Amino acid sequence: MKIAVTGGLGFIGSHTVVELMAKGFEVVVIDNLSNASVEVLDGIAAISGVKPQFEEMDLRDKASVAAFFKQHTDLKGMIHFAASKAVGESVENPLLYYENNLGSLVYLLQELQQLPEANFIFSSSCTVYGQSKTLPITENAAIQPAMSPYGNTKQVGEEIIKDAANVSNIKSVLLRYFNPVGAHPSANIGELPLGVPQNLVPFITQTAAGLRKELSVYGNDYPTSDGTCVRDYIHVVDVAKAHVVALQRLLDNKNTDKVEVFNLGTGKGSTVLEVIQAFEKVSGKRLPYKIVDKRPGDVIAAYADTRKANDELGWKTKLTLEDAMRDAWKWERKIRSIDN
Ligand code: WQD
Repeated sequence: MKIAVTGGLGFIGSHTVVELMAKGFEVVVIDNLSNASVEVLDGIAAISGVKPQFEEMDLRDKASVAAFFKQHTDLKGMIHFAASKAVGESVENPLLYYENNLGSLVYLLQELQQLPEANFIFSSSCTVYGQSKTLPITENAAIQPAMSPYGNTKQVGEEIIKDAANVSNIKSVLLRYFNPVGAHPSANIGELPLGVPQNLVPFITQTAAGLRKELSVYGNDYPTSDGTCVRDYIHVVDVAKAHVVALQRLLDNKNTDKVEVFNLGTGKGSTVLEVIQAFEKVSGKRLPYKIVDKRPGDVIAAYADTRKANDELGWKTKLTLEDAMRDAWKWERKIRSIDN
C-alpha cells in the first residue's frame, strides 16, 4: 500500500517513515529540504534496509501538488508533517506561516479528495490548548485563542480539514503532539535543528556536546513543584508508532467519525529541572545551566490525558523520559563524532 509522507525527512516525519516501512507500507517522501537534509534518506535506509521514494517538492506550488497526485493515483493515504514550526519566527513572519502551513494544506486536500481513498493524518499540536484550565488535558479541553501564528495555523488547519471532510470522502485523524523528544535508538536518525535550538532537549544535548556554553532555564518561579515549567515529553518513536496505528485505523474504516482527534503524550508531566536531571543521569555528565527570565508565551504546565488514545486508538507510550534522553544524547554524540 502506497502512503505519502510530507515533511518525511523532518524529525517526526523520518521516524514515522521508518515505522511505516517496518509495517510493509510503500512510502513516498515529499520534502522541500527547507528544514531537513536529503542525507536523512540514508539514515532511514540504514534502519529500513531500503531508501523510500523521494520527491523534492514545495507544497506551496499548486501545480506541483496536482502533478504529484496525477502520478500517484494509487495512493492509499497521506501523513502530513510538512509545515513551518518555529513559534518565534511565526510572530515575526505570520504570512509566511499562513501561506506555507495553510496554503499547502488546501492544495493537498483539493487533490486528495479526488482519490478513491482519502485517508489523511494531520500533524497537530497541544499548542492548540494554550494554557488549559484543566490538567491533564483531554481532547475536549477548550481550544484557547492561539498565542502565535504558528499555533493558529494548527487550529485553523484542523478546521479546514473538518470542513473539507464534511463535503468529501476525506477521512482524517488529527494527532495533537505534546513534546516529542529523543531519537531513533540506532542513532541513524534524530533531531537536526537549524541554527540555535529553540527547543529544550536539543539545546541540552548541544550544551553537553560543547556546542553551547550553558542552558538558559526560562524561569524558576512558576507555581510548579520546582518552579520550572511542566511539559509532557514523549519519545519520538512512540509518536511515530501512533501515526501508523492511526493510519491503519482509517484504512480499516474503524474510525467512528470522519475526523477524529487524539492527544499524543505520556500522561506524565516533567519540569525543566527534572529533564535536566534525567539527562545527567543517563549521560553521566553535569549540565551547566543558569536561571534566566521567563520566555514570553510559555504556558505553565501542559501534559496529556491519554485515555482516549489508549482506549480508542489502542496505542500507548512504551518509552520513558530517560529513554528519550539516552537516545537524544547517543544521536548528538554520533553527529558530532564524540566518543564518550
Ligand atoms: C519546553 C520547556 C521552556 C528551551 C514548542 C512548541 C510546540 C511544539 C514543541 C511544534 C519550556 C523550557 C526551552 C530553553 C528552557 N513545537 N526551555 N530553555 O515551548 O513546550 O513547545 O515546541 O509543534 O508547538 O510550542 O517546547 O522545548 O521550546 O520548551 O528553559 O533553551 O523548556 O520554557 O518550559 P514548548 P520547548
